[in-house]
Amino acid sequence: MKRMIFRLGGGMQRMLPAASRVYGCAGSRLASTGAASKLADRQLTSEEVYAREDKYGAHNYHPLPVALERGEGIYLWDVEGRRYYDFLSAYSAVNQGHCHPKIIAALNDQASKLTLTSRAFYNNILGAYEEFITKLFGYDKVLPMNTGVEGGETACKLARKWAYNVKGVPKNQAKIIFANGNFWGRTMAAISSSTDPSSYEGFGPFMPGFELIPYNDIPALEHALQDQNVAAFMVEPIQGEAGVVVPDAGYLTKVRELCTKHNVLFIADEVQTGLARTGRRLAVDHEPVRPDIVILGKALSGGVYPVSAVLCDDEVMLTIKPGEHGSTYGGNPLACKVAVAALEVLEEEKLAENAEKMGQLLRTELMKLPSDIVTTVRGKGLLNAIVIKETKDYDAWRVCLRLRDNGLLAKPTHGDIIRLAPPLVIKEDEVRECVDIIQSTILSF
Ligand SMILES: Cc1ncc(COP(=O)(O)O)c(C=O)c1O
Repeated sequence: MKRMIFRLGGGMQRMLPAASRVYGCAGSRLASTGAASKLADRQLTSEEVYAREDKYGAHNYHPLPVALERGEGIYLWDVEGRRYYDFLSAYSAVNQGHCHPKIIAALNDQASKLTLTSRAFYNNILGAYEEFITKLFGYDKVLPMNTGVEGGETACKLARKWAYNVKGVPKNQAKIIFANGNFWGRTMAAISSSTDPSSYEGFGPFMPGFELIPYNDIPALEHALQDQNVAAFMVEPIQGEAGVVVPDAGYLTKVRELCTKHNVLFIADEVQTGLARTGRRLAVDHEPVRPDIVILGKALSGGVYPVSAVLCDDEVMLTIKPGEHGSTYGGNPLACKVAVAALEVLEEEKLAENAEKMGQLLRTELMKLPSDIVTTVRGKGLLNAIVIKETKDYDAWRVCLRLRDNGLLAKPTHGDIIRLAPPLVIKEDEVRECVDIIQSTILSF
């Protein structure tokens, strides 16, 4: 496999010799964890990395063949020392750039003091984080969790409790409305609201009380909200996994109006769109709206640790009483220190502003690509996608393989869409360099 190696911006290319000791994928037996960690330390070739994961790991992902070893800022390096621009940012978890020094320092500092107490006891860090994040986003309270999907589950539980305790919905009758094409994770509840067969097929029976309407369709929402038992409408301000689907201007404003009119909670799933990714602190900030519940995850830790959070006001949050919801790791001191540092980086480095500017530049340049191959360019801030017209000679997967060969990592979704979402610390000359790579790659087909 021939790959171009880019030597950019002073970062020295480190070409490593091919592995001198080869990991025997077949037939190895590890006698102890010590042996396991030694094996992990051996320098494997990319091919050996793929083979080992394939043999010992579940096949629930289909990764692009590149074996990464190191990350810094907008760059990733593979085990052979080749450098790449990261245009996925771990699905928008690494908004602050890989291994941001301030976030890593917070992690290291707290890791040697106190990592986990569980919520059975108080600790000296959680309250400081809670005060910081609630003041930053302007909500009364926060409920800390770990992954994005747990944030979504928490929001659904809060909405149901609120429906029974405050709105007066009869027991077990509460409904939550979702939009077609939504993605909020892989738990039973999340797949129960999914319209993607690869998410739900073969995993039934499903969670009752979830209903679907088309995305970006205000009349459909208005119709659904006639039902008195609706507790909430949970929606992504831009649908990330569906392929960066941007609703019409004014959609979120209308959602807010209708939810208020029908006494229904507006839940914004900002796990992927939030935290500066779309050029605002939250993607809902593109319109003058305030959701009743906001779910955050991914970049809340800058990619170093699973941290998620649900924000809302007392009327909703205090419907959940002690013992009714929680998580062993949720709100642990390590997570809280990391999250404060990750949020501070977004603010101090003005990453929303940078995402807005760099996103404009990226889309302007991508629009110049030949429209017979790239049929659509869309997005906000640095959450963007291009749609590739499939032919027998090329498709989004093959474009991504060749982008990789040319030093840029992106991942196809739904066959013909490529998401382009670099870390938000990217600068103008780097955007231009990446546009050159994308352009020469597309033109090579
Ligand atoms: C909008 C949205 N919500 C929730 C999730 C789930 O997050 P996690 O994978 O951390 O559970 C994702 C993941 O891609 C997402 O894009």
